[in-house]
Amino acid sequence: MSSPTVQHHQHDIVIIGAGLAGLRAAFEGITAGLDTAVISKVHPLRSHSCAAQGGVNAAINPKDNWEDHAYDTVKGADFIGDQDAIDLMCQEAPQAVLDLDTMGCPFSREDDGTIAQRAFGGANFPRTAYAADRTGHAMLHTLWEQAIKNGVNVYDEFHVLKILTDKQRKRASGVVAYEIATGTLHVIKGRAVLVATGGYSRVFAHNTNAMINTGDGIALAMRAGAPAADLEFVQFHPTGLKSSGLLISEGVRGEGAYLIGKDGKRFMSKYAPNKLELASRDVVSRAEVMEIKAGNGVDGAVFLDVRHLGKDLILERLPQIRQLAIDFEGVDPIDAPIPVRPTCHYTMGGIRANKFGHSYLEGLFTAGEASCVSIHGGNRLGANSLIEGIVFGKITGKEMVRYAKEEGEAVPQVEPEDISEVQQEISAIKATPAKGGKRVADLRDKLTESMQEHVGVFRTEDHLKEGLKQVRKIKSDFKKVYIDDKSDMFNTDLLGVYELRSLIDLAEGTVMAALERKESRGAHSREDYPNRDDKNWMKHTLVSWNHNRQGVEIDYDEVRTTGNERYVPVERKY
Ligand code: FUM
Repeated sequence: MSSPTVQHHQHDIVIIGAGLAGLRAAFEGITAGLDTAVISKVHPLRSHSCAAQGGVNAAINPKDNWEDHAYDTVKGADFIGDQDAIDLMCQEAPQAVLDLDTMGCPFSREDDGTIAQRAFGGANFPRTAYAADRTGHAMLHTLWEQAIKNGVNVYDEFHVLKILTDKQRKRASGVVAYEIATGTLHVIKGRAVLVATGGYSRVFAHNTNAMINTGDGIALAMRAGAPAADLEFVQFHPTGLKSSGLLISEGVRGEGAYLIGKDGKRFMSKYAPNKLELASRDVVSRAEVMEIKAGNGVDGAVFLDVRHLGKDLILERLPQIRQLAIDFEGVDPIDAPIPVRPTCHYTMGGIRANKFGHSYLEGLFTAGEASCVSIHGGNRLGANSLIEGIVFGKITGKEMVRYAKEEGEAVPQVEPEDISEVQQEISAIKATPAKGGKRVADLRDKLTESMQEHVGVFRTEDHLKEGLKQVRKIKSDFKKVYIDDKSDMFNTDLLGVYELRSLIDLAEGTVMAALERKESRGAHSREDYPNRDDKNWMKHTLVSWNHNRQGVEIDYDEVRTTGNERYVPVERKY
């Protein structure tokens, strides 16, 4: 079987991922006059940022202030977010939203023309700007227009299979990408490389995420030498549609929707007497699970009730969620409550980075959900994801421009054997016989179902140990994975193998980190260790790839604090 052919390219800045963070960084590169390339395994407008519904947090109202946004974020993170980065994000947030507004993003408006804002969970002020319930869609299209207008180089439908480094494995120098249409390999070198590939919520069977969210960038960065952090912190959104997991925005509760049980009564006053349905997501998801366990659910779900908001408001501000409920649950929310349940939505962990997006591998940057800067710590506040994407896309983009000019290698070095290794990998996958082999879809289903069962909203040592055992069995079976499609054109069977490999690496890291963290903090809720333990666990988990053992290993990293007295940890109540 012949090896895939190889083409070579070089740019100043190479960006993997074309969601909000990637495109915002690209804007900085191109407008600074640098040769900037964006690589995406889908067309950029299919990036998962497009699915974000409810909005983007920024203290743009004169009655609000960035310090309150920062405090809400530190508290939401259960005090394990990095305070230098949180402060920076909240200071820069208003300008970042206004940048998008100036570029033409069609935000919803108040009658006086100011950008409209709604309430969101865990916030002390209604600071979530929105474009109806299609905010990510509006923002992504705006940034894509800017990228095209300013001349970005686009490799769309190119799947990155490896992050390249120099001979000493000390500095990132580019990527090997697979052109999906033809099967050609492309070595794309850059003086600075950004990973902005989003998260890996697809590692759970029931999730709100696009099929593409398999965490490839995080897994590849780990293999290249940049550790990930905090993989144990996984967010379950309280209002995924019961059957499909599709997102029903927190903006719906921001507009005043109720959560009710089988008895038709609101239950959140038992769990968050002040904030009720607008407590932070970890709190609301746990409340739902407890109600369901106590028999107040129907068929594993509770209900989101918007009937009292009235038809006009639903049609004006929540048109998409109404259509989703009709199409995927057979329920028109104008007339009936929507069945919902906690659904994997976001992975707080990612590639460990400082507030300028430098990972722990020289020349490799990261931003957005792929990163762990760490803004979200143990639990992300709703609408802090879009703001993270555009603030740190901008900041990291500027830093990459500086780095590429001042520190980046004029001719980045790559190792020829790194390229031939990918060619051999592909040939070996295609040569694996079906007889005695394992199918990608079967292994992926087993993996995601095991994660769902053993690493969910509530965790125990026994469940986690069983989860780890199952993940490792799948990892062992993966050595026998085979594909039916041996062709070069649009071979999604082959790419499924690489996506599964990423999911397995991240599943192993997630379960190992969750087993180690013997406390409950944010979204990591251990029934056997129900309290937060600041004395022993006020630290980030680091997850690195060990090449000799071909597996992940755990270490720790400090939480960056600022000494702000307001951030001294207290018990988190809503
Ligand atoms: O509920 C939502 O609209 C999701 C927003 C977010 O995850 O930030």
